[in-house]
Amino acid sequence: MSRTRVLLVGAAGETGGSIANGLLENPIFEVYALVRPRSVQKPAIQRLQERGVHVRRCDLRGSEESLVDALTEIDVVVSCVGPAEQQDQIPLARAAKKAGVKRFVPCGFITIAPPGGIMWLRDEKETVYNHIKQLALPYTIVDVGWWYQLSYPRLESGRVDYAMTTANNEIVGDGNTPTAITDLRDIGRYIARIVIDNRTLNKMVFAYNTVLTQNEIYHLLEEISEEKIQRNYIPEETVYTRVLAARQASETYPFDPVKFIPRYLAEYQLSWGIRGDNNPEFAKYLGYITSKELYPDFKPTDFKDYLETVVRGTAKGIYTDRIISRAHQRSFPRTESSDSLYTRIFPRTESSDSLYMSR
Ligand SMILES: NC(=O)c1ccc[n+]([C@@H]2O[C@H](COP(=O)([O-])OP(=O)(O)OC[C@H]3O[C@@H](n4cnc5c(N)ncnc54)[C@H](OP(=O)(O)O)[C@@H]3O)[C@@H](O)[C@H]2O)c1
Repeated sequence: MSRTRVLLVGAAGETGGSIANGLLENPIFEVYALVRPRSVQKPAIQRLQERGVHVRRCDLRGSEESLVDALTEIDVVVSCVGPAEQQDQIPLARAAKKAGVKRFVPCGFITIAPPGGIMWLRDEKETVYNHIKQLALPYTIVDVGWWYQLSYPRLESGRVDYAMTTANNEIVGDGNTPTAITDLRDIGRYIARIVIDNRTLNKMVFAYNTVLTQNEIYHLLEEISEEKIQRNYIPEETVYTRVLAARQASETYPFDPVKFIPRYLAEYQLSWGIRGDNNPEFAKYLGYITSKELYPDFKPTDFKDYLETVVRGTAKGIYTDRIISRAHQRSFPRTESSDSLYTRIFPRTESSDSLYMSR
């Protein structure tokens, strides 16, 4: 039986690492990683090579010819680039078309939200999706809700700090908005099913584990840890004010992450916390097929089991290998052409336009 050749972009990253694991569990896949030359020596890449992953050296910002070369004889491309690198997938998609790739999975992997002015990050991704469709490149878009790993608050004792990236100690609104969550480690297991499933070709898939409110997550963590967690409710108006301020601060290009990171964090709170976008019902309304419909036999990692490992001190932290230099933080280059493209597809509106557009 011929194997399916899958090329991963961002295999050394968090989402990419999960997907590499999911694919390597099934011998039907022959796994390739597109790695920029400066990262080939990264321990994560070395470890993947030891597990049989073939490295193709190439930078998404390199020539089209080098991208087409990197995609030679690849069946499926899965891209997991970071928020600031979304537009770099446009030349990748063009090269995939030229190389005859049979399925392109662009970097979705976020919460459910409608396109066009609610979330900057969603719109960065939608620009790429539109290009894929203009190329008539076969695709599957996969979103995953909120990672388990980012969903729970800090404990006063500090004993879960080792696994966290921020204190995450804000409850949006009244904390009763249901939101879909997924274990980062399960994303790869979902992808291993989705990319060989004909039902998901040219479709959007919502792969999620469970749906909980923030209040439910707090209660569960209190129960497991036997610690009381202080509630810090952020009223709807404060979220609107933050979104507005962050949008205004990030209006000018080139994008400065000091400004746009607060913007996309505030817009996440607006979308999943206030509007309630990130749930299976709304996903279906937007045209997604859900993982529950596609794979009723899939056993997701249980959230309570995951939280127990966090409290026990045995969970794996995320982004533990990151050192972001100040120089890098301040220079996310966006080209003139990608800016004008962005404005063409999603004309800029007043910052406040989408704020009060409830569903
Ligand atoms: N649902 C959620 O809760 C959630 C949470 C976080 C992120 N996300 C989403 O997941 C996506 C992936 O994020 P992540 O945090 O997993 O990513 P990440 O860990 O930052 O990894 C990004 C990867 O992209 C690679 N890359 C970037 N530019 C490249 C280039 N020019 N050429 C080749 N490779 C390049 C990087 O390679 P190097 O190794 O060379 O740096 C890195 O391996 C994001 O777009 C974000 O929207 C979702």
